[in-house]
Amino acid sequence: MSALLEIDGLYSGYAGVAMVRDLNLTVHAGEIVALLGPNGAGKTTTLLTTSGLNPVMKGDIRVFGRSIRGRPAHRAPREGLAHVLEDRSLFYQLTVAENLRLAAARSRGDLDQALSYFPALEPLLGRRAGLLSGGEQQMLAMARALTSKPRLLMVDEMSLGLAPVIVERLLPVLRRIVDDTGAGVLLVEQHVHLALEVADRAAVLVHGDLVASGTTAEIAGRAAALESTYFGAGAETGAETAPDTEAVIDADAHTGAGARPDGPEADLDDVEGSR
Ligand SMILES: Nc1ncnc2c1ncn2[C@@H]1O[C@H](COP(=O)(O)OP(=O)(O)OP(=O)(O)O)[C@@H](O)[C@H]1O
Ligand SMILES: [Mg+2]
Repeated sequence: MSALLEIDGLYSGYAGVAMVRDLNLTVHAGEIVALLGPNGAGKTTTLLTTSGLNPVMKGDIRVFGRSIRGRPAHRAPREGLAHVLEDRSLFYQLTVAENLRLAAARSRGDLDQALSYFPALEPLLGRRAGLLSGGEQQMLAMARALTSKPRLLMVDEMSLGLAPVIVERLLPVLRRIVDDTGAGVLLVEQHVHLALEVADRAAVLVHGDLVASGTTAEIAGRAAALESTYFGAGAETGAETAPDTEAVIDADAHTGAGARPDGPEADLDDVEGSR
């Protein structure tokens, strides 16, 4: 079966400068692919380009077998591509229900099914999105993306600003969505070990170059070396294995960039929607 997403020799960036170079990546139905890498690696650029929010400089991106070149970004959700942006982009003055209804109306989608994955949102339907905790806002951003019943879902830094314990509860929901719907997921994460727990395959991007890709077992086996080489000391990884010399093969081109420290810790009750 053909891939839902095929990124083929992609160059993309800003003002004529390529921030992602010669990237090849595929996502198939029913799998989660983690796109890992330190700050500034080009992860968000890759997702924005796939959504059509940033132009392709060279190479091609095919979504559901069709090149995205010439496709306006606003058509993506109706074609089955959903993108949870890094900043979540909620309507903060509107309620949870209004945020969801707007999204469902735009994509002619299904609100109840989206909510079923995040029951903690139900008691919060009347609350303004701006008053939700970080974890609740992330759930809302995900539920909103699900209203369009996406066949391909891209999630940019689900963990941003959240305590790892919150992320640990949210990531399995992605797995359930994939198993229930057969969608494919491209998951951008800096929490390497959390992403590897839920993903099927992973790719590591550093300074715009793909430095490793493989099954999560393969990448997990190389995680310690990859992290010490690329992510810098102090990265939140959870890897405890000794560095694998094979994994350092690609190391000459780059030095590790410091990983972003965790943002403000979210309330541990957030995922349960107890407010
Ligand atoms: N609008 C922009 N104009 C110019 N350069 C940009 C712009 N957005 C990002 N960049 C640069 O492109 C490079 C890749 O950025 P990108 O946001 O894709 O990284 P990232 O891997 O998502 O990082 P992070 O983990 O910090 O979110 C960085 O050097 C960044 O400074
Ligand atoms: Mg980013």
